[in-house]
Amino acid sequence: MILSLILLRFFFVLLASENSAAFVKKTPGPSKPVQFQSNKVDFGLFGYQLEAIEYKQVDTDIDICDQFTIYKFGVPQPFYTVENPRTEEQPIITKPPFIGETGIKVRPKPKGKCVSCCPTGPADIQLQLFSKFQRETPVLLPPVKEKTGNYENLKRASTIIIYIHGFMEITDLGSANNIKNAYLSRADDYAVIIVDWSELVSFPWYFQAVNNIESVAKLLVTFLETYTDAGTINIGNIHMIGFSLGAHVAGHVGQLLRKGLKIRRITALDPALPGFKSEKKRKLSKSAAEFVDVIHTDGGNFGNIEAVGHVDFYPNGGTFRQPGCSRTFLAKTGKLYDLFSCSHNRAHKFFVNSIISPYDFPAVKCLIARNQTKVCNESDTAYMGIAAYFK
Ligand SMILES: *[C@@H]1O[C@H](CO)[C@@H](O)[C@H](O)[C@H]1NC(C)=O
Ligand SMILES: *[C@@H]1O[C@H](CO)[C@@H](O)[C@H](O)[C@H]1NC(C)=O
Repeated sequence: MILSLILLRFFFVLLASENSAAFVKKTPGPSKPVQFQSNKVDFGLFGYQLEAIEYKQVDTDIDICDQFTIYKFGVPQPFYTVENPRTEEQPIITKPPFIGETGIKVRPKPKGKCVSCCPTGPADIQLQLFSKFQRETPVLLPPVKEKTGNYENLKRASTIIIYIHGFMEITDLGSANNIKNAYLSRADDYAVIIVDWSELVSFPWYFQAVNNIESVAKLLVTFLETYTDAGTINIGNIHMIGFSLGAHVAGHVGQLLRKGLKIRRITALDPALPGFKSEKKRKLSKSAAEFVDVIHTDGGNFGNIEAVGHVDFYPNGGTFRQPGCSRTFLAKTGKLYDLFSCSHNRAHKFFVNSIISPYDFPAVKCLIARNQTKVCNESDTAYMGIAAYFK
């Protein structure tokens, strides 16, 4: 993201790595690939030689609002360009992109409410319901409950997880997919709703993504209120989990819910810092739910170091660079693409680990978490992750 701030219109690629499969939605009917013209520029950034490529659209008879591109790591050409997305499933093979471990979604123009933004449509925010009985293909929940629909898995669930991913993520892979699979591997009867707002958080449009928090939060509020009124869900069974920007969506939902409705738990995974330093309105706070727990892994960088929940965990000090995220280590293991986001991503990885193994991360209570000379009470302990609430 630092990169996108510095060089907003450029896409960066580092050098290659291994294969993995991804699924993106592809249009039916004639799908003409968009022709791009690329100009290469070399940048020496943070001691790294980064290759930046500016893509210019040359085929002008395609509405650039109707398309996105998946970039894969190490390959400067757009890997996969889709027009009129979200209409048909199509398997593709992709490689890790320059940031993160999965394909990233890139849009020629942002979607949202700004003057130059592409308009958003109803399909741009999806509530994808998964359960033990529906592991791969989700039921898409309408934001306002309809008379007919498959709501049994929602009604039966003892806990409903609502997961909100971060900037430039796609949901078929990455944090959303890992969280879902981890919950569905447990014995308890969970329903997992993935909030797919990938259309609204595409690279490199970070600040438009910050602005889009509002519309996603409002949709979730409508969802929670109407489904509660219909008796389909119990707000006391809701556990919202948000990574990075997604953490602020969860916080904003908590603020906007009508009086008398309170989410049971919000878990914020390294809540995003850029755009929230002076932001008060949409920022996550502990008033957002009955219990707010926070995991800080990249504080002061992509994440906010500030304690904002009822419990804030600072694994390995809570800051950049987490163990295993050093330049040397990543270079050695062929994961240099993760250099900038490795520590930030640790937050959702720790949490996924805790879903599978809840007591892996014991913590002690300290007075000043960031201070070198910590004042800690060794007999006051808690577990970071899924077990935090049940202390
Ligand atoms: C850490 O906290 C202690 C106790 O409040 C204080 O005396 C000390 O000056 C602090 N150290 C730093 C480096 O901030
Ligand atoms: C430390 O934590 C324990 C357990 O919560 C508590 O009983 C005790 O009073 C605490 N000690 C101090 C010095 O705060």
